[in-house]
Amino acid sequence: MEIKKVFLNQSDMPRQWYNIAADMSTPMQPPLHPGTGQPIGPDDLAPIFPMNLIEQEVSTQRWIDIPDEVLNILAIWRPSPLTRAYNLEKYLGTPAKIYFKDESVSPSGSHKPNTAVAQAYYNKVFGIKRIATETGAGQWGSSLAMATQLFGLELKVYMVRVSFEQKPYRKILMRTWGAECVASPSQDTNFGRKMLAKYPDTPGSLGIAISEAIEDTVTSKDTRYALGSVLNHVMLHQTIIGLEAQKQFEYLGTYPDIVIGCVGGGSNFAGVSFPFIRDKIYGKNVRIIGVEPSACPTLTKGTFLYDFGDTAATTPLLPMHTLGHNFIPKPFHAGGLRYHGMAPLVSQLLLDNLIEPQAYSQVKTYEAGLAFARSEGIVPAPETNHAIAAVFHEALKCKEEGVAKTILFNLSGHGIMDLTGYDSYLDNKLVDYEMPAEEIAEALKELESYPKPKV
Ligand SMILES: Cc1ncc(COP(=O)(O)O)c(C=O)c1O
Repeated sequence: MEIKKVFLNQSDMPRQWYNIAADMSTPMQPPLHPGTGQPIGPDDLAPIFPMNLIEQEVSTQRWIDIPDEVLNILAIWRPSPLTRAYNLEKYLGTPAKIYFKDESVSPSGSHKPNTAVAQAYYNKVFGIKRIATETGAGQWGSSLAMATQLFGLELKVYMVRVSFEQKPYRKILMRTWGAECVASPSQDTNFGRKMLAKYPDTPGSLGIAISEAIEDTVTSKDTRYALGSVLNHVMLHQTIIGLEAQKQFEYLGTYPDIVIGCVGGGSNFAGVSFPFIRDKIYGKNVRIIGVEPSACPTLTKGTFLYDFGDTAATTPLLPMHTLGHNFIPKPFHAGGLRYHGMAPLVSQLLLDNLIEPQAYSQVKTYEAGLAFARSEGIVPAPETNHAIAAVFHEALKCKEEGVAKTILFNLSGHGIMDLTGYDSYLDNKLVDYEMPAEEIAEALKELESYPKPKV
């Protein structure tokens, strides 16, 4: 029998997260206060996040202990398996060896609970009673709903309207885990009401939903905000994925030539790749590829600038690749990748030439996702299909060149609750969107007067 999956023992679970800020040759540039243009300090963030998470956000300590209370909950599904995609290799006729880290085995079906559990824990020990958040596809909202329920916290989720309408089962899942979920823009915040008055038919965006969740946070008692991606501490919590994968490759006695993840705000990509990027910084020959939709091409067509994380311009200014905080992407199916910005850590790694971006159109990603489902059995999330499209590209290149590279990709989630896109694909109704250069230039105009980061 072929060895298909590598499981680690629970006793082999990593006990520390890896903080890449400790190993980057270019120090991270600080977030800025939008009013003064000056670097913001931990106290400026205190109304939004608990101080223990702010400390992680600004930390440059290489290894950070994972609390036992967090490990005990992660152990519900971790360590996640490393799986060899033999059937996909056969389907592609490639000599490449394709492995995937299967984050779809978590209770909510994606990598998001890795940070949701940690964030709920740190809020709880800081004495917070209620969390407000946004969600795109609903993966983050449902993951945080599970985590807040397990730690006895209340949760309100602002869900991007297009996903709220396309993905009813995610709402039910959030309610099942005890959270309240509303479509964003909503009637529940000043900013939501303003957006609805101005754009009654808007599909919403992550930027708008973040604005609503932040407004809720600063106007409610004992409430803090939680973000499912973009920030340094979220990237940190996700590194358990790559750290486990390294142990699994060690067991196999091999090492990947290429590591691939899809990028929305950057967290599952960071999770699988940062430990491998550390090896690359210290001399290992490994390619790291982040994959995005061509309809929201933050890394491939965005510019590295200071920009707001949300549409209402309430967050600090972050140094990141951005399409402009006013950019509302077309309503394509990978809801979790519809974000105008990119994690500052991922953005800096691109400037430092440690990662390569690729962009694929929606139809191409579903083509790859469907072939994966039909060869490996697992139906991937629409976001994950972007990573799989890049795996196809690299594996077919191996075939052309006759080389047997080892490819690792992160199966960031399953698509069992996101089947509408597959339905459209199978009915030949899926539409591709390219973002025109003029539209990007227009969206970035407003940023001309902002302070500029060093490039
Ligand atoms: C399954 C899945 N993969 C990827 C993403 C993209 O987010 P990130 O770039 O933070 O991993 C999401 C976001 O909702 C998701 O649900």
